[in-house]
Amino acid sequence: KNIAIIMGGYSSEYKISLISGNVVYQSLDKTKYNGFRVHIFKEKWVYVDDAETEFPIDKNDFSTTVDGNKIKFDCVFNAIHGTPGEDGLMQAYFELLEIPHTSCDYYQAALTFNKRDLLSVLKPYGIKSAISYYLNKGEHIDTAGIVSKVGLPCFVKPNKAGSSFGISKVKTEAELPIAIEVAYKEDNEIIIESFLDGTEVSVGVINYQGKTTVLPITEIVSENDFFDYEAKYLGKSQEITPARISDEMTQKVGAIAKRAYEILQMEGFSRSEFIIVNGEPFMLEMNTIPGLTTESLIPQQAAAAGISLQDLFTNAIELSS
Ligand code: DAL
Ligand code: MG
Repeated sequence: KNIAIIMGGYSSEYKISLISGNVVYQSLDKTKYNGFRVHIFKEKWVYVDDAETEFPIDKNDFSTTVDGNKIKFDCVFNAIHGTPGEDGLMQAYFELLEIPHTSCDYYQAALTFNKRDLLSVLKPYGIKSAISYYLNKGEHIDTAGIVSKVGLPCFVKPNKAGSSFGISKVKTEAELPIAIEVAYKEDNEIIIESFLDGTEVSVGVINYQGKTTVLPITEIVSENDFFDYEAKYLGKSQEITPARISDEMTQKVGAIAKRAYEILQMEGFSRSEFIIVNGEPFMLEMNTIPGLTTESLIPQQAAAAGISLQDLFTNAIELSS
């Protein structure tokens, strides 16, 4: 089978995606699959061979041509974090072309990538989230109104972004306008959330061999103010798998993440983040193209479950649709 591993993308997360994509490429079972690294950038979509030679992708059928031979792909392994890989755009394109891909479908991707919409959909099912305030670019910024709703400190986040780009923890009302401006650099919608003072955990849920499976849970202890970019990728955090929470809490938060996966009829990978406050998990978000770098959580969780990266990726390819 020819597997195109798509990586890069149009967002600030492109560097992380290139690392994730290369991890997939290197770990692929070479006895079963021919891996092709495909870079998706605004300027170009190209297949990149081992000598780093680039061959253009024909967007009509997502094929490439090497030495006069047309290469078509049997499956796409999606390793693009952020737009257009995590928000449904690439999914919709492959679904139109009828090429199986490893991520969830276009609608689930678009919904989960939008933090406001995801949390609103899950709320009536009893899945709790922080108190939030939404703003669209150009709208009047009522800082007193924001503070009276969500309190201080609070978090200002782009509504649709990843890897903590554009996120600030705000301690005073006066800091709000700058934090809002920073978040608008990533997205024209923002979400301002109350501060949840508790234990942060990350729960991977995947379809493993046909069964919705909760991976061992990771506890995140950030040296920085929160689990920001530096904490995520530059070692400024401790990630403890399995999390140091009771068996009862492990069950409870795992069951919520699994329930969310099932409510949304997810496919492929998911990694949901929660903060547990006084025994109650509050959901922050769900990532459907979670990082696969060696610093990332899904590889750590899979290892704790005894699943090798090669098995994890073979599973994703075999279940792709
Ligand atoms: N958005 C990053 C890649 C993650 O969720 O791991
Ligand atoms: Mg995220």
